[in-house]
Amino acid sequence: MHARITGWGKYLPQRVLTNKDLEKMVDTSDEWIVTRTGIRERRIVGDDEATSTMAVAAGRGALEVAGLSPGLLDMVIVATNSPDRMMPASAALVQHALGAKNAAAFDVVGACSGFIYALVTAYQFIAAGAYENILVVASEAISRAMNWEDRSTSVLFGDGAGAAVVQANEHATDMLSFVLGNDGSGADLLYIPHPCGMPTNVSNDRRYYMIMEGRAVFKFAVTAMVEASKQVIDGAGLNIADIDLFIPHQANSRITQAAIKALDIPSDKVFVNLDRYGNLSAASPAVALCEAVEQRRLKEGDLVVLVAFGAGLSWAAMVLRWQPGA
Ligand code: COA
Repeated sequence: MHARITGWGKYLPQRVLTNKDLEKMVDTSDEWIVTRTGIRERRIVGDDEATSTMAVAAGRGALEVAGLSPGLLDMVIVATNSPDRMMPASAALVQHALGAKNAAAFDVVGACSGFIYALVTAYQFIAAGAYENILVVASEAISRAMNWEDRSTSVLFGDGAGAAVVQANEHATDMLSFVLGNDGSGADLLYIPHPCGMPTNVSNDRRYYMIMEGRAVFKFAVTAMVEASKQVIDGAGLNIADIDLFIPHQANSRITQAAIKALDIPSDKVFVNLDRYGNLSAASPAVALCEAVEQRRLKEGDLVVLVAFGAGLSWAAMVLRWQPGA
């Protein structure tokens, strides 16, 4: 059976944390952050919110766009690196809150590549003929894993959620190719040892905060984005010039610039929301895809590349022929 994305949604918490705000919290400056990362502000999850509650809001939006009742969902997959609890999966909380009574539910911990990993998983269940309606949500309360005294990580990340509905379609599949990869030898370069429940269960013990070797991750990121993009475009039988919109993981504008330069992609074909949200981890490509549609950067028939990288060290990419209608 063929499959297509038929719905999209997002949720960003109200609280805005600007670079100027961060200047009061840690030894950094707006000028350094903007020049070295491209980030100007990010959103921070409220005390009464968590990964699951943001996922529910984004998921509801995606179901509404798809015109699909939650009771018809066969599966809910939540991609997150900041789950409410160790157990059960955040997807279990989302399934219940949405009223998706007939859906299987599980989480994907794929770091910043998690949304694409989860989307590809959804396509496989539909291609196999097992399921027809799947909700894929990526949601992060990753600020709860921030050591606010560590300027190498705390300036980079933000919270939010994005979602997509994938449904069986009798005509054609919109995903033309995908690449998923991981190199576990880099697992110690970026990691979080602890879950991130509501309002915050992270102790003051430094061992619970995100640890990152920024320069090593930067180098890996550029290579991973370039190679995964080439492979996935090649796999779809396309050339880079055929791609209408490139949606890279929103981690650092210098990483994106280096990648698109190596790929020879003009910057007007590249979607950016990093300046407003920072790195939303798994939610980054999900929110970017949703905003690309809302801003009419993505039109029926367009060819789009989604590409991400992250802890693992992982990478993931897909080419879509955007066809949410018919
Ligand atoms: N504010 C001010 N100064 C900072 C700073 C901050 N937030 N972070 C680092 N610095 C300082 C460093 O201490 C260093 O000072 P020094 O020259 O006096 O020693 C200087 O800036 C350069 O540090 P460096 O680590 O080389 O900076 P960088 O250009 O590599 O940028 C990152 C740091 C983290 C922004 C960059 O390496 C990066 O984006 N890496 C990838 C991270 C990522 O994307 N992770 C998520 C993957 S999904």
